[in-house]
Amino acid sequence: MRIALAPMEGVCDVNLRQILTGMGGFDYCVTEFIRVSHTMLPDKVFYRECPELHQNAKTASSVPVHLQLLGSDPRLLADNAARAVELGAPVIDLNFGCPARCVNKHTGGSYLLQYPDQLFSIVEAVRAAVPESVPVTAKMRLGFKDKTLAIENAQALEAGGASWLTVHGRTKAEAYRPPAYWNWIGKINDAVAIPVVANGEIWSVEDAMACRSESGCEYLMLGRGALARPDLARLIKGESQEALPWSLMKEEFIRYFRMIEGTGQPSRVAGRLKQWLVFLQQSYPDAAALLMVAKRLKCPDEIYQATLVS
Ligand SMILES: Cc1cc2nc3c(=O)[nH]c(=O)nc-3n(C[C@H](O)[C@H](O)[C@H](O)COP(=O)(O)O)c2cc1C
Repeated sequence: MRIALAPMEGVCDVNLRQILTGMGGFDYCVTEFIRVSHTMLPDKVFYRECPELHQNAKTASSVPVHLQLLGSDPRLLADNAARAVELGAPVIDLNFGCPARCVNKHTGGSYLLQYPDQLFSIVEAVRAAVPESVPVTAKMRLGFKDKTLAIENAQALEAGGASWLTVHGRTKAEAYRPPAYWNWIGKINDAVAIPVVANGEIWSVEDAMACRSESGCEYLMLGRGALARPDLARLIKGESQEALPWSLMKEEFIRYFRMIEGTGQPSRVAGRLKQWLVFLQQSYPDAAALLMVAKRLKCPDEIYQATLVS
């Protein structure tokens, strides 16, 4: 079984990727999407979004980092993908799932799921632009408004040359409302020959087992579930039997604080800490109690002090 850490824009940056992959169980992770709209991106953008390019495109715990691009222009995506690979990206992932209105207005993300031909053209162009040894992969939802093109889209991505597909089991219209339709991921899995990574609403070991059996997929991707329970991948793989107690999870949270303190406006840093607590509170009552206190605090150091006594 392989387990990936999902790309999560505004949340899962280099710091959280380091913490979460350091917990074990993850085989690879994916950067937040890098938008390609009008021009060739300067190298500094690739390094900013994926600082791991400076260290062989691996996190500190040697987990590979795949680089995700989002856009709609095949030529521009191809040129930028080629540059990202020159800078060391080991895999180029293409985003066809983002539901954000600002992205869809510019015809990127899940908007393209209405046009299988465009999906094909994009993957084909990117595939042709990067060396054969570098996989080009795609991440899709089940559709834009409905699921009618789910299979056609997956087959278009496969025909374009995708090495594997990650499927978030919902349409754009379904946003993040449960459930994720794991059975639909299974229909796609049956319809393509390339590996399919199943994604959506995996919050526990039981969810992971149910997702595997409903979708028939050996590969899973964890997003919010990994934020809520950072040792989830390890538990799913049976690398540990017991969930991490708050006393140890708190140490990871403090490590995160130390990584990000002083990296920006104090209010922004405090915001990041609270953002993670919002997820952690689902698994840890102590994190919920800490969040209640932290909500009123604007200074990261005050949140750190509150963590120590939590
Ligand atoms: C805050 C947030 C940001 C996200 N950003 C991205 C992104 O940059 N690229 C992408 O392909 N998916 C993105 N996603 C979607 C996730 O990768 C994943 O498909 C989705 O959360 C469903 O998985 P989950 O139920 O395990 O969270 C994002 C999701 C969230 C919650």
